[in-house]
Amino acid sequence: MFTRQTTQIIAHRGSKGTRPENTLLAFQAALDAGADGIETDVQLSRDHQMIIMHDEQVDRTTTGTGLVRELTLAQLKVLDAGIRIDPAYAGTRIPTLDEVIQLLQRNHFTGIFNLELKTNKFPYPGIERQLATYFQHQSIGFRLVFSSFRAQSLLTLRGLYPQAEYAKLFQTASRQAKRMQRLHQVADLHPDIRWVKAHRFWLPHMQLRPWTVNTTADMTYCFKHHFAGIITDYPARAVRLRRQIQGESDSWKKS
Ligand code: G3P
Ligand code: CA
Repeated sequence: MFTRQTTQIIAHRGSKGTRPENTLLAFQAALDAGADGIETDVQLSRDHQMIIMHDEQVDRTTTGTGLVRELTLAQLKVLDAGIRIDPAYAGTRIPTLDEVIQLLQRNHFTGIFNLELKTNKFPYPGIERQLATYFQHQSIGFRLVFSSFRAQSLLTLRGLYPQAEYAKLFQTASRQAKRMQRLHQVADLHPDIRWVKAHRFWLPHMQLRPWTVNTTADMTYCFKHHFAGIITDYPARAVRLRRQIQGESDSWKKS
């Protein structure tokens, strides 16, 4: 019998809605909530370390100021990435990519690890080769999905590391994304949920993982249409709602 796909729940910057974003606390909370995947962002520090951070500047989420690319790993590591959300999270540090991978391995994670190359503002020359070399030396038990707003980053990394899955991020620039999918340069599209809602007529043909799907109405829409995935700040809430709409589903935790 034909069964429709279960929508995978991917935790945006970890469980961003309930923990300091892009920290080990946020990733662990997402795994504990039963998320099928984790989405996060990588950039390079001044000394070329792979740093997990969304903004190009540290000002919004930490106690520091300045650009990630102008600070060394040692300078980034003294910043507090938790206290601005809640004093209870004081002492939380900015993680490196390797620290996140170690966390996933400790959890025996076999779900989706969606790593966004944050190369749309600063291209971070060499980041693609660095990522390819890093993952070539890892034994990964999870599904690795690279995404980016910058097409060239995906094409470069895919040339170096074809064994991963690739997804094009976009807000409104759908033509380039669709073309990349048609040419099999990317498997999936990661659109802004606002674009999805404005183009509903076009949807049945696509493998979509929209972001950032936070409201009950948007989650319900995506679950009812059995999208490939959603990227959400609230994985625990999404897991509960998906159970109501799509029923029980297999989790990587049970596999
Ligand atoms: O990967 C989806 C989403 O994270 C893209 O936007 O700005 O949150 O990185 P942003
Ligand atoms: Ca992101």
